[in-house]
Amino acid sequence: MKYYIKTFGCQMNISDSERISALLENIGYKPASKADKADLILINTCSVRRSAEDRAFGALKNCQKLKEKNPGLLVAVTGCFASKEPQRLKGKADIIFDITQLFTLPKIIKTHINKIKFNIQEDLYKNYDYLKISPNYSSHYRAYVPVMTGCNNFCSYCVVPYARGREYSRNSKDIVEEIKGLVDKGYKAITLVGQNVNSYLDKSLYGKSTDFPKLLKKVNDIPGDFWIWFITSHPKDMSDELLDTIAGSQKVCNYIHLPVQSGSNAILKSMNREYTREHYLNLIDKIKSKLEYASLSTDTIVGYPNETEKQFNQTVELYKQVKYDMAYIAQYSARPGTAASKLEDNVPCEEKKRRKNILTDILISTAIENNQQLLNKNINVLVEKYKTGTLIGKTMTFKTVTFPGKKNLVGSFAKVKILKAKDWGIEGKII
Ligand code: SAM
Ligand code: SF4
Ligand code: F3S
Repeated sequence: MKYYIKTFGCQMNISDSERISALLENIGYKPASKADKADLILINTCSVRRSAEDRAFGALKNCQKLKEKNPGLLVAVTGCFASKEPQRLKGKADIIFDITQLFTLPKIIKTHINKIKFNIQEDLYKNYDYLKISPNYSSHYRAYVPVMTGCNNFCSYCVVPYARGREYSRNSKDIVEEIKGLVDKGYKAITLVGQNVNSYLDKSLYGKSTDFPKLLKKVNDIPGDFWIWFITSHPKDMSDELLDTIAGSQKVCNYIHLPVQSGSNAILKSMNREYTREHYLNLIDKIKSKLEYASLSTDTIVGYPNETEKQFNQTVELYKQVKYDMAYIAQYSARPGTAASKLEDNVPCEEKKRRKNILTDILISTAIENNQQLLNKNINVLVEKYKTGTLIGKTMTFKTVTFPGKKNLVGSFAKVKILKAKDWGIEGKII
């Protein structure tokens, strides 16, 4: 019996798919190289924008075609779309389950294979923590380790609190054990993931305010030669203690992904982001003064309801001031059930596109400008891929570097002299 997983969405979903894969292999499934070679196809969905849901429907339609050729094929669907609105997926898959109920999956599969009954979801293991399932990591040198899931913030436009429920943090002991195991196996980079990693609350210290700096320190103290990245941080929870911890922890990388969403205070208020443009810019100043060569990335939504040209220009000015290295610029997509969906989606599609292009152009110029500062510097790179004589890797600040080299370096660190700066990457040679 073979399985194939198609994953949409963010790092959290990628990490969840690694857990699904481990569970399936545990009950005897083997991975299939392609969807049409599988007996079980699992679609892990995202719901963040309408386009993400359309992609889930597209994938499920393809599964139906494969089912015509192979009637024994079982199709399962999970992820944020399936948790938020399972009823909209009814009839499009054999199994629809909430990712937190992952433990019930083997039992549900069994009922299907024995053709006993059709089941949408079982609640048997409601209190079992699915994050305790040991994942089948897809890389042997870089791993995602979730520290928390869910969200309490209810930004007006966002489905995540509905899809993933309230914030839930893992015990720091479990996180540290998992990372120790990875480092012992030779892993070189660990990315701590969660919707808001900096509101992490250690179960054993429950009740104390933010524990993320303490967790970072514990991970940094694990002996071994490895890097620590973390995503995503919320600007309202970015404390001085956290910035000082990053600055003082050698393995924690100076790469901060800090979603701004908008540069206009009126839009930020309507978005329920709980910070102002001034607070955000003050944080950026602190990051730049405390962290050497820090690289900064962000998320931005253009064309939020009622966003005027003047308000958009405040985002433009913010982009010019911050000089981001990378940004994910999304056109606003109204999500039924969210607070913002009650507002008229009144910025035309063409205008959203135009605003996105303006921010992208600024981003390209600031990224090149930042990358030029690295010219002639010797930098450590984690080598990730080999392609016909060229190695591709990441710096500690999450920049992509290409340089000539041999395949056997994949998964290890290399010292590279930077010779050329481009927008989305840099080029160099091994020294
Ligand atoms: N927790 C993170 C934060 O606070 O910024 C973001 C997580 S969210 C899954 C990823 C990004 O998707 C958001 O930062 C936002 O830019 C984008 N996004 C969320 N809802 C959206 C919507 N309705 N339309 C367009 N983009 C959206
Ligand atoms: Fe969505 Fe806001 Fe939560 Fe981020 S903080 S996941 S944008 S509700
Ligand atoms: Fe999408 Fe869920 Fe991530 S909605 S972006 S997969 S948290």
